[in-house]
Amino acid sequence: MDSSEFLDFLTSRTSVRDYTAEELTEEDIVFLLDSASTAPSAGNLEAWDIVVIREADQKEALMGAAYDQPHIAAAPALFVVCANYVRSMSRYGERGILYAVQDATIACTYMMLAAHSRRLHSCWVGAFDEDEVRDILGLPPHVRPVAMLTAGKGRPQGTLTERMAIGEHVHFDAW
Ligand SMILES: Cc1cc2nc3c(=O)[nH]c(=O)nc-3n(C[C@H](O)[C@H](O)[C@H](O)COP(=O)(O)O)c2cc1C
Repeated sequence: MDSSEFLDFLTSRTSVRDYTAEELTEEDIVFLLDSASTAPSAGNLEAWDIVVIREADQKEALMGAAYDQPHIAAAPALFVVCANYVRSMSRYGERGILYAVQDATIACTYMMLAAHSRRLHSCWVGAFDEDEVRDILGLPPHVRPVAMLTAGKGRPQGTLTERMAIGEHVHFDAW
């Protein structure tokens, strides 16, 4: 892939919230998880964990925790990406909190792009009640749910989202 193909790949991805009922295959899921595990992480500690959700009851419960966003229950699969504070803080102390969130975020980004490369659709979900998600998934205290990623075969709206002009948020050499 050359750099112009890479930019085309990035710009052709869009969040999709309308899904068909077609299940993700095991290969799809393994591919997304393998892609996540290639992500860089602070000290290569991989301070993230992922809970893969396919059961309808769990999706329904998580939809409730995410303020009833319907695509969470509609998506064939859902990945709850968590920061594992202990893994990062054991080496980096307080700074490890930030690193673990960054590690989880990058892992989720890689999965989102991996889905796109496989002609699957996805949507990042950040709006949820963390305590409810903790209860539903039985997360231990040192693990923070950072993002959910819905994934499956979807029906894109056909229009790509727009972006700010790059000059509006880039600063050279100093702010
Ligand atoms: C940190 C973060 C939180 C987000 N939270 C939600 C969410 O709770 N629900 C949702 O439908 N989309 C959510 N999104 C998706 C954004 O709305 C979407 O990425 C943005 O509008 C740009 O559109 P695009 O992904 O199609 O390029 C979130 C994205 C990010 C990165």
